[in-house]
Amino acid sequence: MYLLEGKIIAQQEKKNIVDTMRDYGITPGLATILVGDNPASNVYVKAKIKACEEVGFYGEHYNLDYSSTTEDVLAVITSLNKNPEIHGILVQSPPPPHIDMVRLVNAIDPLKDVDCFHPLNLGKFFSGQSDFAPCTPTGVITMLDSIPNFSYEGKSALIIGRSNIVGKPMAILLTNRHATVSLAHSRTKNLDIYLQKADIIIAATGQAEMIKGDMVKEGVVIIDVGIDRVLNPITNKSRLVGDVEFESVKDKAYAISPVPGGVGPMTIVTLLSNTLKLALQSISLK
Ligand code: GUN
Repeated sequence: MYLLEGKIIAQQEKKNIVDTMRDYGITPGLATILVGDNPASNVYVKAKIKACEEVGFYGEHYNLDYSSTTEDVLAVITSLNKNPEIHGILVQSPPPPHIDMVRLVNAIDPLKDVDCFHPLNLGKFFSGQSDFAPCTPTGVITMLDSIPNFSYEGKSALIIGRSNIVGKPMAILLTNRHATVSLAHSRTKNLDIYLQKADIIIAATGQAEMIKGDMVKEGVVIIDVGIDRVLNPITNKSRLVGDVEFESVKDKAYAISPVPGGVGPMTIVTLLSNTLKLALQSISLK
């Protein structure tokens, strides 16, 4: 079994990013916007800021109160759009329910849309005009590309979860690489049949350890996008797990990503490489 250690792959990617910064003599700038105090979002944004510092990016962080309005966030985005030191802007999702995320995403300058959430960038990505894509699915592809003797062509790929951030863009990336994709979700009937047939599984369900060893085929390549907390009722402590029951799946898998230390670090390093791409693009447009 080949363990897809995102943490280690991400370290190599960071080295490549630092080399490119040096070669071009540029300092990419990333702005993060967090609205409210969602504990998980707080952890993700902190990790993103730390990664920026590690590679020597310029960073600005805006932590807005829960009570902030969509207009308040729009004002921050408008000023960041004009700031020449900032090449990438991200609003951590999900924002509080009273915030209109669609308006925020549409307000970000498409040339600074580091998450690739703006409809203009999604349209270019979908139609094959650009390979710039959202961070998590791009990070998953980087992981899959690192597997020795692996090819996508003719494989049955099952994605479980149809979000705009993971499932839908993942389907496009895998289709472009000639896999045959099934995009399953909470209303899918007979998921067990899809699971048994799949050569590649991308799990993004949010249901702790739902995929077990007896559900998958021998030699499967399985990427776990889930980050779920389960409480041990005896110790009353929680631990981080994925959507895949690692212990029962690992012996059947050709390659598998762990949680933590799998997809999480890949999302973050892709955020860095997307920021770098936007910084390089801004020079070429000058
Ligand atoms: N929430 C979960 N994943 C992401 C991501 O990649 N970017 C942003 N902005 N929010 C997220």
